[in-house]
Amino acid sequence: MDLFREKALADKVVFIAGASSGINLGIARHFAAHGARVSIVSRSADKIASAAASLVADGFEAIGMAADVRDFSAVEAALKQTHAQFGPIDIVISGAAGNFIAPAAQMSSNGFKTVVDIDLIGTFNVLRGAYPYLNKPGASLISITAPQGTNPMMYQAHVCAAKAGINMLTKCLAMEWGAEGIRVNAISPGPIADTEGMRRLSPTSESDAALKSRLALRDYGTTKDIADTALFLASDNARYITGTVVECDGGCKLGDASPMAADEYVIRA
Ligand code: NAP
Ligand code: COA
Repeated sequence: MDLFREKALADKVVFIAGASSGINLGIARHFAAHGARVSIVSRSADKIASAAASLVADGFEAIGMAADVRDFSAVEAALKQTHAQFGPIDIVISGAAGNFIAPAAQMSSNGFKTVVDIDLIGTFNVLRGAYPYLNKPGASLISITAPQGTNPMMYQAHVCAAKAGINMLTKCLAMEWGAEGIRVNAISPGPIADTEGMRRLSPTSESDAALKSRLALRDYGTTKDIADTALFLASDNARYITGTVVECDGGCKLGDASPMAADEYVIRA
């Protein structure tokens, strides 16, 4: 497949969990624009119906269904319906997630569990649920993880634990399913502009500026940056890539250890 061909995903069937908004809806739109038939799910029947309607209104082939990724039978039903309507599934994106800022000492057990249930158990449910419906060999499974999966972050114990679990799950499934021609990878987005995730993590323009100053590329990414990465990983151009976490993050994981911001140093002329 030539990735740069206009309809690079023509005839491909794509299932995307957590695609009523943000990064995952961006992936759905990008894949549909490249010719894929997309099936999107999220918890809210209203939100997912309006997301699917917006894709259809733009001339794309898309269906939307409500399913909470914490409920394996609901996920299974959505996958079964996708298979019945579109045929075997070529590409799966698991991106449903929840986040809030909370110090561990003030986080309830249920608060911690809720995020682990959505992000980590939900990802297992989506990937495991998809397994019998995959078009194999050649299927590509992609989870959306985060820098918290490799770098500890204050007030993010629940997300760090859940996303680290996704990173390891990615590697385990890649090993177990590789012999059947199923590739399993993850994308770790850095801070992405105009998303719910960043509204929760960086609520002010001051916190945005401070975070940008610590990124190698000094700016937030876009949903298209992540969609382009997903398009590559989903395509046959990435046929020999499996078990990896691809960081599309402006260099945020590089973790500058400097005691001062770059513009605070006095540099000798
Ligand atoms: P978002 O717009 O809030 O997307 C989250 C999606 O998950 C929504 O469609 C939401 O829809 C769905 N969802 C939540 N709980 C669910 C559940 N139990 N079952 C099914 N669907 C559920 O947030 P976003 O910022 O674009 O984040 C998307 C992904 O990127 C997440 O995996 C996040 O961790 C990751 N990420 C984001 C950033 C960033 O900068 N934004 C950075 C790194 C990683 P409903 O409310 O309809 O369920
Ligand atoms: N601080 C501390 N604890 C919080 C919290 C916060 N801001 N928000 C929720 N919690 C706790 C609740 O108190 C509850 O624990 P308790 O029963 O011990 O009181 C637990 O988390 C579950 O909350 P609930 O509102 O019932 O969960 P939910 O399943 O309806 O919603 C969330 C899940 C909490 C993750 C919600 O924020 C959500 O739906 N997020 C999706 C969108 C999102 O986060 N996008 C960004 C993705 S990166």
